[in-house]
Amino acid sequence: MCGIVGYIGKRQAAPILLDGLAKLEYRGYDSAGICVFSEDGFSVAKTKGRLSALSELTNGGAELCGCLGIGHTRWATHGAPSDKNSHPHVSSNGKICVVHNGIIENYLVLKEYLQSVGKAFESDTDTEVIANLFEYYYELEGDLIRAVKRAIEKMTGSYALGILCMDCPGRMLAVKKNSPLIFGFGEGENFIASDVPAILKYTRKVVYLNDGDMVDFNADGAVFYNALGERIEKVPEHIAWEMSAAEKGGYPHFMMKEIHEQPKALRDTVSPRIKNGRVVLDDLQLSAEYLRGVRRIYIVACGSAYYVGCLGKYILEKTCRIPVEPILASEFRYAQPVLGDDTLVIIISQSGETADTLAALREANTLGARTLAIVNVVGSAISKAAHDVIYTWAGPEIAVATTKAYSTQLSVIYLLALYIGDLLGTLSQEEYQTILKALTELPEKMTAMLTENYLEHIETLAGELYEHHDVFFIGRNLDSATCLEGSLKLKEIAYVHSEAYAAGELKHGPISLIEDNTLVIAVAGVPELFDKTMSNVKEVKARGANVLGLTTEDLEADIRKTVDRCLLVPKTHPLLQPSLNVVPLQIFSYYMALARGCDVDKPRNLAKSVTVE
Ligand code: F6R
Repeated sequence: MCGIVGYIGKRQAAPILLDGLAKLEYRGYDSAGICVFSEDGFSVAKTKGRLSALSELTNGGAELCGCLGIGHTRWATHGAPSDKNSHPHVSSNGKICVVHNGIIENYLVLKEYLQSVGKAFESDTDTEVIANLFEYYYELEGDLIRAVKRAIEKMTGSYALGILCMDCPGRMLAVKKNSPLIFGFGEGENFIASDVPAILKYTRKVVYLNDGDMVDFNADGAVFYNALGERIEKVPEHIAWEMSAAEKGGYPHFMMKEIHEQPKALRDTVSPRIKNGRVVLDDLQLSAEYLRGVRRIYIVACGSAYYVGCLGKYILEKTCRIPVEPILASEFRYAQPVLGDDTLVIIISQSGETADTLAALREANTLGARTLAIVNVVGSAISKAAHDVIYTWAGPEIAVATTKAYSTQLSVIYLLALYIGDLLGTLSQEEYQTILKALTELPEKMTAMLTENYLEHIETLAGELYEHHDVFFIGRNLDSATCLEGSLKLKEIAYVHSEAYAAGELKHGPISLIEDNTLVIAVAGVPELFDKTMSNVKEVKARGANVLGLTTEDLEADIRKTVDRCLLVPKTHPLLQPSLNVVPLQIFSYYMALARGCDVDKPRNLAKSVTVE
């Protein structure tokens, strides 16, 4: 979704803004713009398309002189991607300039009112309404802070805003609600941004703003206010990770880099939580007594994180014998779920900012459930709103399509399965130790898979299959959940229409879609269901399907008897097999996307952090 950067200091702002926006490209965007504020007033440059177009338009920023500015990458919500709808937006009288991430739900009512009092609009956006609302209240109040406070009281929806006022040179305001925003402390310069990579080159001292927070700052200092308008102190956090974590490091795409980072991400997430042969979740406040009383678990998330939840159902039910229901956050929030103090709601999110997931979490809190978030981004809104947090230490994930965050989320499910299963006595000590051993061996097994030969093999398969535009993934039990993820990957980055079905379900309808040469990807990683899945493969083969099978190395000879091509993975404990099975599916989608000429890291229409409903 949209990205914001703001700078005040002694350096030229425009190149810093362009550089910062480039670090936010991963969020997904369709247009971009910057405004530099100098003694000559606001200089605005904006354009539809990639940042390279904006950079060309401004000669790398050199055309816009001044040491204060705001920049924006836009992911269109109100109005098509175009120059006029790009941010920044300037108010009618030219005095207020804003960049905005989020959605103002009541923008039409506000716009109509503002038009009735003579404010003029050039764009279709809700953001121009904000600029004019600020102008309206500024004219009444004569004070920028008071004007912004009165205006945001009238706005419903979500926003992170960078605000400049022609009457306030050398100064910027920023305010947020339900969209991410950080403040960065520099030496004689200060920053705002939607995410850390945008400013990491300049500072490691950042504050994550809370909903309702406002910051009023110049080059030398900042004053923070909370939602009640009270002055508050903010202690900066130190960002420990290296800039290289947000760069490609020699890989052609972030996605490939992040696929390769999975073993390390798994190790970083799992190892610190194993002490003396036991899973120790120091991060949890959940008492043993509470867990013993849990009668039902919901796993709430969106997209791939939800598919981790689908795996979580099989894993946690098997190990803990508690009913588990995975549910999409966008459904959960309006479903009036039956929750109580014996319900544990597990929320999964890489970004920690996904609007639906955050809203679902708040709903669960309100309804009296205990909430536990599995989150990657430290200090994110979800990490703050949940009762308990377990961080996935995947490091920054830049590619829009998740890989390493997905893998670490799954590893946390295994940790929870061991932890709760042990506590409840539903896992035998022998099984506990076997799973724990397999979990600690996963990174090694994954590393062993990621060889050049393995990648080349999958690239060749993609080279043979990339012209298929309808693909069906089938699998049973855990594999059916892996299929959902494999299918999503193929859709989002290779733009291939694909569906995922529980293999046994195919004959209840979808099999009518199988015809000569339809590509079916059959995941057969659950040993006791291998033969059953192969029976389903035979059914689709009998109708002409071209089948790519995926199974463990020990079953190579068996699977080759039935399928046309195969992908193999090392064998691990059956419950952990999905962790390895997903890897070739990620790589397959990657090479399919390349073969089809797609932009792997920035797929069309998608955003990394979905901060609107
Ligand atoms: C798919 C993907 C998305 C996210 C989903 C949730 O590759 O990345 O489906 O999983 O948008 O995002 P988070 O985990 O940030 O809440």
